[in-house]
Amino acid sequence: MDHFNYQHHALYAEGVCLKEIIEKVGSPCYVYSAATLTRHYQVFDAAFTDQPHKICYAVKANSNLAVLNLLASLGAGFDVVSQGELMRVIAAGGDPTQVVFSGVGKRPDEIAFALKHNIYCFNVESLAELDCIQQIAHHLNVRAPIALRINPDIDAKSHPYVVTGLKESKFGIAYEDAISAYKKASNLANIQIRGLDYHIGSQLVELSPFIEAIHRMNELILKLQSLGITLQHLDIGGGLGVVYQKETPPLPDEYARAILKNCPYQDLTLIIEPGRAIAANAGILITQVLYLKESAHKNFCIVDAGMNDLLRPALYSAWQEIIPIERLNEQEAIIYDVVGPVCESGDFLGKNRVLAIKQGDYLAVRSAGAYGFVMSSNYNTRPRIAEVMVKDKQYKIVRERETIEHLYRNEHIW
Ligand code: LLP
Repeated sequence: MDHFNYQHHALYAEGVCLKEIIEKVGSPCYVYSAATLTRHYQVFDAAFTDQPHKICYAVKANSNLAVLNLLASLGAGFDVVSQGELMRVIAAGGDPTQVVFSGVGKRPDEIAFALKHNIYCFNVESLAELDCIQQIAHHLNVRAPIALRINPDIDAKSHPYVVTGLKESKFGIAYEDAISAYKKASNLANIQIRGLDYHIGSQLVELSPFIEAIHRMNELILKLQSLGITLQHLDIGGGLGVVYQKETPPLPDEYARAILKNCPYQDLTLIIEPGRAIAANAGILITQVLYLKESAHKNFCIVDAGMNDLLRPALYSAWQEIIPIERLNEQEAIIYDVVGPVCESGDFLGKNRVLAIKQGDYLAVRSAGAYGFVMSSNYNTRPRIAEVMVKDKQYKIVRERETIEHLYRNEHIW
């Protein structure tokens, strides 16, 4: 459920008519619903109440300070993958002691920064990284809290670019090397073992890979216990899918029940790192129809947002619903490819969409709150677009549209 609905002919975000936002902010822009973000976070949090747990929102999904601030105020922790994301959490009023730091390529300076800010845990992805953290922690005279990210070799059955738990993927430490890696970690003076971590992929629409993965981890935990290595937490990563089109992902409640049923360690704190399930359906991208180009072969609806603003359709052939901001049905509905202004044939937001529109109309690309703005770029020297947050009957620009001068202000002529 989200809070983008039609009232009569006009699309609203919560209690605000989107036309009103467009008049003030211009097009294109992202619009987020605070009520949807809140609801998604609370549903997730409530679903795990039967076990000690912490929801560490995956900042990479949508890292706008207003989004992070809202989630922090609800009690969220955060999963970050760079110093930049950690700094965003801090700037947004989030608590660094509630942060887990994931990622295969943490730089030494990023590790030092995170240690100085007392993060809750590093999710360590290789033995080389473990050595690096040990050295830096020794130098700073602290003990670094860690979990090892273990790759369970499980097919998450999602797009090949977003599955992470197969043994050929770059993520985590191989399952069969897990015990020796923990033994090594337990012998390092400046390392404090906190937990075990895994993340098998994103946009998972079935429960079975999640269940298979936790079973594999249960076996590991048992072996670790027999070696006297005790854990405070099990971090099960993120990955719960959302409805873009006709997918039928488990609801957060079903997902939580499946996890809890298959986790025999009731004292262990569960850490969950959802990104998409919190943010995707809490945001839309608004774009204006610049031109309609109709021919015997194909009809194109050329809009003012492109692959640089929303990359998912171009990169993953992702399908996201496209709907008009005003449903007046004055035009005949015909089939269009909705394409952007970027000079690439891969620059499309949607293919074969039935739309009743005219030049100048506005469209909303739904489910754009996760992996939308954060993956945008300045390709074709296009300024990144504004982000707006709606709360009930009010709205606020939470990121200004970039100006063209912003784009080349750090460049120099030789
Ligand atoms: N934890 C880790 C370690 C991750 O790598 C990710 C996502 C998450 C949590 C959050 O996963 P989520 O709950 O959002 O599925 N750009 C792609 C998605 C990439 C996901 C990367 N990692 C897309 O637009 O579909």
